[in-house]
Amino acid sequence: MAAEKIAVKKISPAELSRYEDFITRAGHKSYAHFAEIPAKALNNLFFQELESCKDSDLAVFMAMSRGRPLGLLSLHRLDWDSNHFGMPMAKIRHLLGGADAKLDFAAKKSLLKAAVQTARKMKFRHLAVRLSADDFNAVRALELAGFYLADTIVEYYFDFRRQKLPPKPRSQCTLRLFRPADLKLVQNSVQSIFAGYLDRFHRDPHLPSARSDQLYLKWLVNSCKGMADEVLLAFVGSRLAGITTLEIHHQLNKILPFTLGEVALTGVVPAFRGQGIYTAMLAFAQNYFSNKVELFRYATQLNNYHVQKVLTGLGFSLKYAFHTYHYFFQEARK
Ligand SMILES: CC(C)(COP(=O)(O)OP(=O)(O)OC[C@H]1O[C@@H](n2cnc3c(N)ncnc32)[C@H](O)[C@@H]1OP(=O)(O)O)[C@@H](O)C(=O)NCCC(=O)NCCS
Repeated sequence: MAAEKIAVKKISPAELSRYEDFITRAGHKSYAHFAEIPAKALNNLFFQELESCKDSDLAVFMAMSRGRPLGLLSLHRLDWDSNHFGMPMAKIRHLLGGADAKLDFAAKKSLLKAAVQTARKMKFRHLAVRLSADDFNAVRALELAGFYLADTIVEYYFDFRRQKLPPKPRSQCTLRLFRPADLKLVQNSVQSIFAGYLDRFHRDPHLPSARSDQLYLKWLVNSCKGMADEVLLAFVGSRLAGITTLEIHHQLNKILPFTLGEVALTGVVPAFRGQGIYTAMLAFAQNYFSNKVELFRYATQLNNYHVQKVLTGLGFSLKYAFHTYHYFFQEARK
């Protein structure tokens, strides 16, 4: 029997409602690892994610065979990252499939080929994609297309609906929330925390390390300027020793059947490490979120072992893992 031919077509985001049935059945959508989230809410999340990409050269591709949708890929420009790294960068926001187990790998392969061709035409130099670590067809298709692994993220949760707060750990530091007058102190004290960090930016040989260091400083400063709900500071005497951002997912929480809070960034100045400051900051964050949200999410790199030791000690459980893959357009190099 001849192999089924897979065709990839570019569609406008407005046409997506025609494929709602496929989107409902597609595996590995964001938050699909939560059995308690109804299919309708997962679809709403998918459409909300696409909506948030609309102002940034969004391209959507469908893989089809004999009129049946087999896969979907969305590609969009990353404005902030492009500005920061001084090169046009894009992200594959969705790589969905699972409609036909036999054709899933072939569909993802075809979608990625189309995405790379389009990105090349659009003069992007760097592509990123984050996907479920369970999606082995996507992993295989990405590696075949020339993408390389940049990091693996593990996602831990503390569930306030079912878990009691652990006893408060002991530490010599003092903790308090950020005030606008602290901004200069933050700018001057925290650069060293993420220097050479083990994240996907620093691990990518095509991204300058100094820019990756600066990215974290900008991110922390923006968090202090209102991107995060609050920022926690840890002091040893009068010296700033640690920092932690505290974020409540206000938009997402309107769609999810539970409420979610997250620590997006945290770290301790190297000179103050090994004194329990990180553990104290996380325990503070647990307490902070305990009367504001139902779940506390904490994501870190798979190989950030010290952090995971603290998380499990405070009662967090591992729920999910993602891989991040990157692609670099060599020929576009100056
Ligand atoms: C990871 C990090 C936050 C830990 O901060 P810290 O204040 O030194 O951590 P703590 O003192 O609370 O120690 C936590 C645990 O990890 C262990 N640990 C921390 N650093 C360690 C090291 N370099 N070697 C061995 N063990 C270490 C501690 O012994 C402790 O375990 P214990 O309670 O069984 O003794 C800090 O190293 C850091 O800022 N790293 C860079 C940024 C980062 O990784 N941020 C987290 C992003 S998810």
